[in-house]
Amino acid sequence: MFEPNRVYFFDTTLRDGEQAAGVNLNVQEKLQIAKQLEKMKVDVIEAGFPAASPGDFSCVQAIARETRNSVVAALARTREGDVRAAAQALAQAEKPRLHVFLATSPLHMEHKLRMTPEEVLNEARAGVSLARSLAAEVEFSAEDACRSDPDFLIKVFKTAVEAGAVVLNIPDTVGYAVPDEFGALCRKIIEGVAAPEGVIFSVHAHDDLGLATANSLAAVKAGVRQVEATVNGMGERAGNSALEEVVMGLRTRSDFYGLTSALETKRLYPVSRLVSRLCGTAVPPNKAVVGANAFAHESGIHQHGVMAERTTYEIMTPASVGIPQSKMVLGKHSGRHAFEERLNALGFELTGEALQSAFERFKALADKKKTVQDNDLEAIAGQLEQTLPGPIELMGFVINAGTLIDGTAIIKLRVGERVIQKVAMGDGPADAAFKAINEIVGQDFTLDTYQLGAITEGGDAMGECVLRLTLDGRTVTGRGVSTDIIEATIKSYIHAANKLLG
Ligand code: KIV
Ligand code: ZN
Repeated sequence: MFEPNRVYFFDTTLRDGEQAAGVNLNVQEKLQIAKQLEKMKVDVIEAGFPAASPGDFSCVQAIARETRNSVVAALARTREGDVRAAAQALAQAEKPRLHVFLATSPLHMEHKLRMTPEEVLNEARAGVSLARSLAAEVEFSAEDACRSDPDFLIKVFKTAVEAGAVVLNIPDTVGYAVPDEFGALCRKIIEGVAAPEGVIFSVHAHDDLGLATANSLAAVKAGVRQVEATVNGMGERAGNSALEEVVMGLRTRSDFYGLTSALETKRLYPVSRLVSRLCGTAVPPNKAVVGANAFAHESGIHQHGVMAERTTYEIMTPASVGIPQSKMVLGKHSGRHAFEERLNALGFELTGEALQSAFERFKALADKKKTVQDNDLEAIAGQLEQTLPGPIELMGFVINAGTLIDGTAIIKLRVGERVIQKVAMGDGPADAAFKAINEIVGQDFTLDTYQLGAITEGGDAMGECVLRLTLDGRTVTGRGVSTDIIEATIKSYIHAANKLLG
């Protein structure tokens, strides 16, 4: 049963979020994110779209198996094959939800579905009924709801309820709505459907006009009680409502909304870091709630105000969203406990050997640097996160580069049981290294994007490389960190190659 004054959070980072261009997470990465989402107490984790690919199917299956507290949702079109695949992937879930969607706008019905409104009603009934026969909880989404005829939407939702849906989702699929209008549409639908107790309305807003969060909040004000959102607002095209923005909007303005949620907001920042790292998508510094500058006060007047009384210019505290209070400096005398705690706050959960190894690296760095900052820790732990088991391991390299010679790389790799070394020339050191790796592995990986940056400050800064590699139509992100940017580059390439071959 849903509580009337509570907003339920449906996180779709692993489904719609992963539809963001160039993002491709593997099973381990999705599981890692799902575990953190569950810890943050999101109500529902949408784990994927099982009919889309065998990879998606396995991810949903793995998350369903390992998640105990959050509901696990799987997406399906109304067609039988999709619904059965989603039900099968959810078979081991403690709390499964089958999420069925069908488009309802004239545009989509005519050009995409090639169905009449009558046929769409029948299709919705059939899809939801089948889903209900296979899963305890069914959500129905009317795709492109904001460009649909509201009276037709009411009919479709009534049909979905009769067929067994308990969550009725109103998606702004193309990010077309504006808040007043969206709120009014939600209100009209809620009144028109007059759903029985035990049924709630949901929204799923896209950010094409930068209004996703505003639209989601307007919908909540109108009576909607589930919000679909993603961490950092990731998603198809301009993305989705950002989970951290909606929840902090509701919490900070509880005087206006008067609603609660179960979400542990102190976990927002660590989860944001984790998602950014694993997806290879940087969070803009001015991003609301979790951006690097979200709590930075630059102007003298503001600084003075905050020092005198924090609330003069701060409407929420960094601590409330889990931004580490870096006041406690980590250095060579810091203990393992403080180190581990800070890592957790940054979204890492290292255990056993990995934790020990990270601690040793931290101590070694602390010997060189007076204080170790959060980005140093991210670099240290990130290095371990990358050493995913995979067939390729870097044994060593030599690079020759300059303005007077072609870039030349000697790369030595362990590939399975064999150690192979090759020399290659290229257009600069990175290109030469990539060519040598391709030759050793015998694969023609294509480099799509390549970014280099410094993640810590000073002469001994850690360099970070994030790149995207494609093989046979599959694209993955690779990340490498090192004080040597060439090593970071080679490591990131191998990280991605291991994902593609693993
Ligand atoms: O944007 C959308 O309409 C969707 C649905 C599948 C809910 O992602
Ligand atoms: Zn969407």
